[in-house]
Amino acid sequence: MSQEDIPTDQPAVVTVGLPYANGDLHVGHLLGYITGDTYARGLRRLGQQTAFVCGSDMHGTPVAVNAAKQGREPEELAMEHHEQYERRFPAFNVEFDNYGHTHDETNTELTQEFVETWIDEEHVVEKEIEVAFDTETEDPLPDRYVEGTCPYCGEKARGDECDEGCQRHLEPGEIEDPVSVTTGNPAEYREQPHKFLRLADFQEYLQEFIDRLEGTEKARNQPREWIEGELQDLCITRDMDWGVDYPGDDREDLVLYVWVDAPIEYVSSTKQYSERVGTDVFDWEAAWKLDGETRPETEWDEDWSENSGEIIHVIGTDIIQHHCVYWPAMLRGAGFNEPRAVIATGFVGIDGKSLSTSRNRAVWATEYLDAGFDPDLLRYYLTTGSGVESDIDFSWDRFAERVNGELVGNLGNFCYRALLFAERNYDGTPDAEPSDEVRERIEEAVEAFEEAVREYDVRTVGEVAIDLADFGNEYIQRNEPWNLIGDDPEAAAVVIRDCVQLAKACAVLMQPVMPGKAADLWTQLGEDGDVVDADLSATLEPPAAEFDEPTELFTQVEDETIEALNEQLRDRVETPEETDEDDDDSTAMTDIDPIEDDRIGFEQFQDIDMRVGEIMTADPIEDSDDLVRLEVDIGVETRQVVAGIKQLHDADDLPGTRVVLLANMEKAELFGVESNGMVLAAGEEADLLTTHEDAPLGTRVR
Ligand code: 2FM
Ligand code: ZN
Repeated sequence: MSQEDIPTDQPAVVTVGLPYANGDLHVGHLLGYITGDTYARGLRRLGQQTAFVCGSDMHGTPVAVNAAKQGREPEELAMEHHEQYERRFPAFNVEFDNYGHTHDETNTELTQEFVETWIDEEHVVEKEIEVAFDTETEDPLPDRYVEGTCPYCGEKARGDECDEGCQRHLEPGEIEDPVSVTTGNPAEYREQPHKFLRLADFQEYLQEFIDRLEGTEKARNQPREWIEGELQDLCITRDMDWGVDYPGDDREDLVLYVWVDAPIEYVSSTKQYSERVGTDVFDWEAAWKLDGETRPETEWDEDWSENSGEIIHVIGTDIIQHHCVYWPAMLRGAGFNEPRAVIATGFVGIDGKSLSTSRNRAVWATEYLDAGFDPDLLRYYLTTGSGVESDIDFSWDRFAERVNGELVGNLGNFCYRALLFAERNYDGTPDAEPSDEVRERIEEAVEAFEEAVREYDVRTVGEVAIDLADFGNEYIQRNEPWNLIGDDPEAAAVVIRDCVQLAKACAVLMQPVMPGKAADLWTQLGEDGDVVDADLSATLEPPAAEFDEPTELFTQVEDETIEALNEQLRDRVETPEETDEDDDDSTAMTDIDPIEDDRIGFEQFQDIDMRVGEIMTADPIEDSDDLVRLEVDIGVETRQVVAGIKQLHDADDLPGTRVVLLANMEKAELFGVESNGMVLAAGEEADLLTTHEDAPLGTRVR
């Protein structure tokens, strides 16, 4: 059943997956928070009452293991990072209405209430399960204290997740060949009684829920296989000191599994927001609670849907199971509302490889800010680089290219030239009505924006203003107001009124993705008040009659800055340091480059001249660690080529190898040796491309 269109009369809550309070933030984390913030702002733009909440994930083994490694108390480590995150998010214009943490009183109490309700409703059972113990220290080894092999796919896995393979959640006792991560001792399984949430009680409900869940495609479809198969009970307790105490009076020695109290923080954080601003401003219960007595057993109930809020979660692809299976069951079992939508973002790669904190192949939040870049540039890059669900590659080169092309060259350029022309000739907005063409174009942009918000298409939310500026540049160029102003002043006034109107519409539409820049533009337009409070109808409202001379909205990113940042990243990756960061990102994205979004035409491909060749000689270049001088016979001639394969191939083995050579590569000089072409190779191991039949040397590869 489809749900009521956004905006609805009910309050909405937008959340982002809680960051474990155990390390520094990098662009991989920022993607989620920026996406969530952009989406929440987009919803508000449509007039939907929205709370944007989050908090730090303080408990569980991700924090405890890191604290143990540093010889610190988990609480101290978690609080330190929590406070750091509280400062860091606003620096990226990520403005939560409430940012709490899972260890605070609100969340502790609410978590215990949830679990007590499950106990009262008989959804909790006790079972004997296999728990890993260190064979020497005799300590229990919950979750990330143990690693081994995934029983489902055979990949290396740790504790409660198959993070390098099938991404499944793993229950205690499931991991094979367990070893303690802190001592390296083999672990053995011993039977222990634990508490479980009986997920089978919710199977029918979940099957219906998944049919009405909105959001991104993976979030709606990936859970089906879990929900349709046999649902295993979820172990909700752990043998640890760090966590929320299990509230049942029969097992005071246990704490709750981190994935119990973590999502409940979404509710707690909303509750704290209401407590701060008053329920007349935002009523957390209207958003999260079901309508009193009307909680249906399994059937979807229209009254119920109309009387509960819109819960929208933004998460990483790796935690879909938690949000689309466990969490709805947890909510259901406690009589709370269900998610309306789950938006799962892809992973961020760095320079075409997976982000890895252990190898320090990451771009850190502090590093970005220290380089002096405006946060909105990164916000734009991350939200519009690819579809919300696709992986996105970050490279400083691409960052500079996109900022300089799309922001400086397009949006910034249009607004500046439009406002400058208007200010110089009319002291502001000329006294004329906008043309139908421009009015219609703005209406189209507003519709595209609304549709994108309704379809959870964050990329389009970010792109609408850019497309409008693109139109603006084309429009101003086509109408040449600089010529018209002498020949036909009335027509010139319409064109410039149009352009100012377009700039105003850009400010309103770009606000979710670039709130700081939108506010600057709003001020430059001489508008009163805050652009945050302007709704979509402001795009067509008359701009201010007067404004001052504008300034450029964006500044060009210089090549030298990018070179320095690239070098900094290269040096770091080549000299890896231990970081205290949770390293789950190294496997989040494979080392395979994402497929380029930009397609090339056949003609462009035709420009690439690749030939079958054979290596005749191979001589390592002295003084270079990597380079080898090759002579490659390509039929018509023999080419001298310098290849970076010294470490990866023995030069003596190379003569006689058939290769593919890019023959129209620009010449280059490396270590004083001219390179006239490029030998093609795959991956970091430089696997040389070859042919498998007898295509004569010089044959073109197509
Ligand atoms: O995977 C993680 O990083 C968790 N800290 C996310 C928790 S999201 C929520 F459900 F609490
Ligand atoms: Zn697996």
